[in-house]
Amino acid sequence: KMALQLLLRLAFLRLTATATATAGPTVQERGFRTLPAAAWPSHFDLNWLPVQETIQIPNNGSAPLLVDVQVFVSNVFNVDILRYTVSSMLLLRLSWLDTRLAWNSGVYPRRAVTLPWDSLWTPGLTIQEALWVDWQDQSPRAQVDPDGHVELYLALTTETNCDFELLHFPRDQSDCNLSFYAFSNTALELEFRAHAVNEIVSVKREYVIRDLKTQVPVQQLVPCFQVTLRLQNTALKAIIALLVPGEALLLADVCGGLLPLRAAERIAYKVTLLLGYLVFHSSLVQALPSSSSCNPLLIYYFTVLLLLLIVSTMETVLLAALLARGNLRAKGGPSPALRGERQDHRDSEPNPEAPSRRAKGSGRSLAEAADHVFFLVYVVGVVCSQFIFTGLWMWATCKSDPAPGKAVPHGGQPRL
Ligand SMILES: *[C@@H]1O[C@H](CO)[C@@H](O)[C@H](O)[C@H]1NC(C)=O
Ligand SMILES: *[C@@H]1O[C@H](CO)[C@@H](O)[C@H](O)[C@H]1NC(C)=O
Repeated sequence: KMALQLLLRLAFLRLTATATATAGPTVQERGFRTLPAAAWPSHFDLNWLPVQETIQIPNNGSAPLLVDVQVFVSNVFNVDILRYTVSSMLLLRLSWLDTRLAWNSGVYPRRAVTLPWDSLWTPGLTIQEALWVDWQDQSPRAQVDPDGHVELYLALTTETNCDFELLHFPRDQSDCNLSFYAFSNTALELEFRAHAVNEIVSVKREYVIRDLKTQVPVQQLVPCFQVTLRLQNTALKAIIALLVPGEALLLADVCGGLLPLRAAERIAYKVTLLLGYLVFHSSLVQALPSSSSCNPLLIYYFTVLLLLLIVSTMETVLLAALLARGNLRAKGGPSPALRGERQDHRDSEPNPEAPSRRAKGSGRSLAEAADHVFFLVYVVGVVCSQFIFTGLWMWATCKSDPAPGKAVPHGGQPRL
């Protein structure tokens, strides 16, 4: 808003200047503020000039004006990984020297005066990553001391976009940038020197700030300073709510392999597990963010889990079908008396090891042997998949694709 007003004012000035100075030289915005009064056309109304002069940027010879910025980060209250945004509350303390505002303290003995921000030059700041910025004080006041040191406090709440690195979600850590630009001045007139102070006292947060840095990018056309927040996810919730149920389901599925293939409950058991897992999976996929590159490893992990459960259920169904076919064939062959005998023995003696039955139950023992082998392979596969994932979790890093604005030859920031 400040920047807008300043711009409006400037635009208005230009308009007046060009309208009244048709005969004079064309007035350029940059030369404008250092233009001596004598250069103005004689019929130009000079009455406003002393007033307007104080809202032009203070001159520091050939060097840019140095503005000292202290950034107090007082809260980071909403980290939304699904929308890739982070909300924060900051307090900026800007200080610079404007000798035009100095006064003789012998004549006017005061330690400091307070001036409305629009009566003097202040840098207009724009945050590049912001979705919205709420400047809490619409008309902040600046403190000026007798030497002309100006001090201005700006409190703001902002929601900014941040590319979280979620590969290791829920143990992720990301750097989020807040780039402050002063678009109404050029880098030749204005330079920032920034420091950041972490003033967060609240600990009841999923994401905590592990580090806070500021930097002033070099070779920018527009004066700029950047605040980088290093956010770390400390939440146990995702581990408790996602990993534990997933592991428990997998374990339950492995245990289901211990049920005899002939028991009808086995298919019911596995299908129930699979159904339960599908419900869990769909809610999980909604809870995890996705992106064009570097998706969370957990998404792959849970998909592999789903595939394992499906394979184990299909194995049970197929071998049960084989067993049923073997039974049918066996039922067709032997005499009714023998069949009845076998029927009697089935419940009391589940292990068909008797040599008399081996010929008839060949299909069955084949199915059971296959089931046994599959069970061993499955257990080994499950254990291996867990180890592979642990290894991936520890060693995997992900390099995001280059940003579209930086990849194309004509994208990116303009450079000096
Ligand atoms: C003017 O520029 C010099 C050199 O960069 C710097 O040391 C000094 O602090 C600046 N003065 C103001 C008022 O910014
Ligand atoms: C933040 O800014 C730094 C320095 O300009 C840059 O190297 C880094 O890639 C930026 N980080 C993000 C997440 O944009």
